Amino acid sequence: MDPARIRNFCIIAHIDHGKSTLADRILEHVKAIPDRDFQDQMLDDMDLERERGITIKAKAVAIDVPYEGTTYRLNLIDTPGHVDFAYEVSRSLSACEGAILVVDAAQGVEAQTVANVFLARQVGLTILPVLNKVDLPNARPEEVAMELETTLDLPMDDVYEVSAKTGRGVEALLHAVIERFPPPKANMDAPLRALIFDSHYDDYRGVIVYLRLVDGKIRAGDKVRALGTGKVYDVSEVGVFQPHRRPTDTLHAGEVGYLIGNIKTMRDVRVGDTVTRVKDDVKPLPGYEEPKAMVYCSLYPASEGDYRNLQKALERLHLNDTSFSYEPEKSDTLGFGFRCGFLGLLHMEIVQERLERDNGISLVTTAPSVPYEVRYKTGEEATIERPSELDTQKGVEEIREPMVNAKLILPLSAVGGVMKLAKEKRGQHISMENLGEDRVILEYDLPLGEILYDFYDQLKSITRGYGSMDSKFKGYEANDLVRLRILVSGEEVDALSQIVHRDKADRVGRALIERLKTEIPRQMFQIPLQAAIGGKFIARENIPAIRKNVTAKCYGGDITRKRKLLEKQKEGKRRMKSVGRVQIPQEAFLSVMNLSKEPSGGGDKKS
Ligand code: GTP
Repeated sequence: MDPARIRNFCIIAHIDHGKSTLADRILEHVKAIPDRDFQDQMLDDMDLERERGITIKAKAVAIDVPYEGTTYRLNLIDTPGHVDFAYEVSRSLSACEGAILVVDAAQGVEAQTVANVFLARQVGLTILPVLNKVDLPNARPEEVAMELETTLDLPMDDVYEVSAKTGRGVEALLHAVIERFPPPKANMDAPLRALIFDSHYDDYRGVIVYLRLVDGKIRAGDKVRALGTGKVYDVSEVGVFQPHRRPTDTLHAGEVGYLIGNIKTMRDVRVGDTVTRVKDDVKPLPGYEEPKAMVYCSLYPASEGDYRNLQKALERLHLNDTSFSYEPEKSDTLGFGFRCGFLGLLHMEIVQERLERDNGISLVTTAPSVPYEVRYKTGEEATIERPSELDTQKGVEEIREPMVNAKLILPLSAVGGVMKLAKEKRGQHISMENLGEDRVILEYDLPLGEILYDFYDQLKSITRGYGSMDSKFKGYEANDLVRLRILVSGEEVDALSQIVHRDKADRVGRALIERLKTEIPRQMFQIPLQAAIGGKFIARENIPAIRKNVTAKCYGGDITRKRKLLEKQKEGKRRMKSVGRVQIPQEAFLSVMNLSKEPSGGGDKKS
């Protein structure tokens, strides 16, 4: 296809500002096109669409839009919506020339709006600002357009107003996409260079690779190579998504589509990599990176018999998501499990949920932690993925922690509260800027380990839900960090030890012991709990012994009640781990995350 008739674009938005709804409306709108083939194709997809979020599954959809006597091919490329996947977002953006920036006309600019605009500008995209939800009675399009102009330099006159709900403004928007976004720069005669911006695993066809052709062309029968991984693929099919796969003869420079090439594992494909013909010698497209885990946690099957099942489930999941890592580990206290690395907290939660939900495995998970860089007195450098890896025998010279740069958008009235919170989390204030009349943008550098657990919840609560945040990894920074050890019945529980700032160690140690006291149920003997830094104990509590029979709690011999209680106990046991003689419930391993919240009530709080 003539590149002058192609537009490659994506939609970027803060969460819930209406990205998926707008994408659905765009697809619905083009279904009205009186092109028989196209219409049939779209009707086949009604079911898929009804499942909602067709673009989420499709990742890239080619639509044909007639405009002033010419039919244009618009490729709408989906971008992951969360900061954990910033690298994947940047690669999807690189496959486009333009971005529709959706902003909720009632909510206004939010943290991800700002972050997305920065990312889009970094890769040189033309931005088309769109105010969505103008049908809402509390929409204030003029004010929000002003915000866009003053904070993001997007001229008010260029802003489009739409309602993704009613479809108002959608046609004009599609015409604007054609007029305002530049066609791809495409060199048909140069050797093949194509950007991999996504991929997924298909049970029948193997890995489906999503491509944006930059130079040259590709067709079935070609032998191609990915420059980053060095893998060679025999191309058996190329095509476009409409929104199902439709094979085509050839994909040309400027076009977006897919390749299938007998690729058996996702490990052989990396987002951001450049595909070229085996015999050609070309320079890779910029921006390729290896995935970097920023959050680690350990997963143990609650019942040891499930270890193999967990291993199989991890292998299966890894087929479709190679950005998490896992390796077997043996904990002194928890037995056999896996140490896993994730791109971020949300990524971790998604993987855990899939493992449990899709495989029926009950997991005991440790609190997430971040990687630290260490220099020992011996001159040796190491990156540790869990606090218990710190080798204090060698003498620690310096510990460096990962830092993020965060932009927070909040109401003026919450500035004091949020600044106090950021200070508690050892944040370094960078700047403050006004956003409209009553909101501000605060910029902070914060240790990732400090904001991992409850920072976002607290931000939401201080700002009564009106605060938003976006952060990106900045680098490692040395600080006065120490390892806090936790002992239960005199035995160190490696899964509970953590690295904290020296000034906070006492406070965290005491709070953690207090919390464990409420989370670990009383047992037939007394359980001492201790927190220590090196050889020095900083906190101690005892969980007193229990003597009475649990069923004694049931009065009047109500048998159903008694059964219920016993069943509840059985349920609880599935998520327990023994440390020596002591049964520790799942909640206890997560105590460190919840120090500022109410206890879960898992333990027996009566004394
Ligand atoms: P994620 O997919 O979660 O990132 O969110 P999103 O940005 O895709 O938002 P989504 O399309 O899911 O819309 C969020 C909510 O806003 C949904 O409840 C939509 O029904 C609603 N919504 C979207 N567009 C409009 C609109 O134009 N008007 C009104 N009134 N509601 C809308």
